[in-house]
This record gives sequence, C-alpha cells and structure tokens, in this order.
Amino acid sequence: MSTIRKKKIKIKKMNFTILIISLLIIIFIFHKTIQLITNKKSTEKIIKTEEKIEKKVETKPEEITPQNPFEELKCDYYNPEYLERYNTYKESHPNLDNLQIIKNVNMQLDKTYYEDTIPAKNLNTKEILVNKYYYLEEDYVPDNLETISNQYALSNMQLVHEAKEAFESLSKQAKKEKLKIVAMSSYRSYDYQVNLWNKYAKADGKEKADTYSGRAGHSEHQTGLAVDVYNEKESYTNFENTEEFDWMQEHAHEYGFILRFPKDKVEETGYQYESWHYRYVGVEAATYIKENNISFEEYYATILKNW
Ligand code: DAL
Ligand code: ZN
Repeated sequence: MSTIRKKKIKIKKMNFTILIISLLIIIFIFHKTIQLITNKKSTEKIIKTEEKIEKKVETKPEEITPQNPFEELKCDYYNPEYLERYNTYKESHPNLDNLQIIKNVNMQLDKTYYEDTIPAKNLNTKEILVNKYYYLEEDYVPDNLETISNQYALSNMQLVHEAKEAFESLSKQAKKEKLKIVAMSSYRSYDYQVNLWNKYAKADGKEKADTYSGRAGHSEHQTGLAVDVYNEKESYTNFENTEEFDWMQEHAHEYGFILRFPKDKVEETGYQYESWHYRYVGVEAATYIKENNISFEEYYATILKNW
C-alpha cells in the first residue's frame, strides 16, 4: 500500500472519530438540555403545588352561620323581628317546643300584663285585638255604633253595625227556639270602663279585679264588638248552666261570635272564664276558632299576624 493511501485512510479514520465524538457531544448536550427543562418544569410544578397548599392553609374556613331552630321550622307565623325574644323565652321555658315558643311570644306572653303595651291595630275592623297587651286610646270610639233592638237587649245597648245585625239574627233565631239571649252589656266607653274597673278594684282589690275586668283602654267592650249576655232569668254569672249557653256553644259561630274567655285559655286571654262574654269576629274566623279550639289571641298570632 502506498504511503499516500495509508495517509488517506488515517485521515478518514480521524474524521470518523471526530464525527462520532461530535455526535456524542451533541447527544450529551441535547440530553442535558432536556433534563434541565424537565427539571425546571417539575420544580415549577412543585413550587406551584406548594403555593396552592399554602394558600389552602391560609384561606379562612367558610363562615358558618349559626343555626336558627325557629326559622328552620318554616312556619308561616315565624316573625324574624321577634328572634331575640324567642331565644330569651326559650331559656326560661326549656320544656316548650319551638313552635309553642313562637306562638307564645307572638301572643306577647313573654311580657308582663299591662307593661310595654302596644297600640291596637286594625282599628274599626273585626280583626281588632284588645287585651292586656294591646290598648285603645282614650278617645277611641268605633265608627257605626248602633243600638240593639230592645227585643234582644237591655235599653241603650250599642254594637258596631255588623256585630249588631249579627247579634240580632242570633237572638231572633234563639227566640224562635224558645230561648232568650239578651245583651246586658255591649259597647263601653273608656270613661265608663275607668269607673267600672275602679269599682271592682275597690270591692275586690286590684289583683282580683284584673282577673275579670279590663283596665280602661284594655277592655274589648270599647271596640263595640263585645257583648255580655244573660237569659233574663238567671244572673249572667250563671249563664254557663242555662240552655241558652248550650245553644250558644253550638250556634254562636254561625253568626260570627266566639266565646272570648274560655276555661282553658286563661293565660292567653289574661282573664278568667266568662261564659257570658262573646266577641264578634265574623263567621269565617269564628268557625276556624271553634273548629281548632283556639283563643282569639292564638288566631291573631298565627293567622292574622298583625303585630
Ligand atoms: N270582662 C272583660 C274581661 C272586660 O272587662 O273587658
Ligand atoms: Zn264582657
């Protein structure tokens, strides 16, 4: 082999080696670059994940609004304005269920009689509520007072027109059935009630008088919708033991009247049982009240809801 050829072969070998080395270097650099990029990405990922975790830890837990057991009942006479009173009343009456708490507070039973009183709403309507919590002003005289026919009343007994008509129909029907239902006390003015209550308080003491007589402004006789009845033979205090009372038990609601102070509602109404005192509320309300055996206070607190 000639020296030139040998040289050529040598050069070729060298070139080949250089090529291989260059390739290896390129591959190495390429590999490293890829590694670097991948590492960077995963580092970024790790940092981001850590940041997320940190953020999560930093985020305050969602604010949990305290449970309101009264609202949860979803009863339609829940009054949000009374929430604080519901809670306070529950503390002093832990044995009552929450529905009863709402009813009682709506009826104002968490208050003391005659303290922190409220002006009566629904003036001159048959929805008016007057009791030891709701009062009428001294100068309140209902519109449309009319005198009840003396066939069915003592002289000069007045009721609001609608109540008067209903009472006369009731008494007329009773008469047809040989019964006598006679109005012996109906509309009473504020001043009249002042004297009446004072007379009772003098005779029996204030505390006792409060169990059967309304203080002036707090008697529903001032509404012109209340009537005391008797049968002309027995004293009104004995009305419970008369046939007329039995008839009223069965039929009063058909004419829109309710027995206003029943035996089992003394706390709600604030008065002892009065078998002789009836209140005109209209046929629909009277029927509902009778069928559900509730007081007018409860009807007001759960149906009328006019607090
Ligand atoms: N006797 C009833 C309670 C009144 O005085 O209004
Ligand atoms: Zn009365």
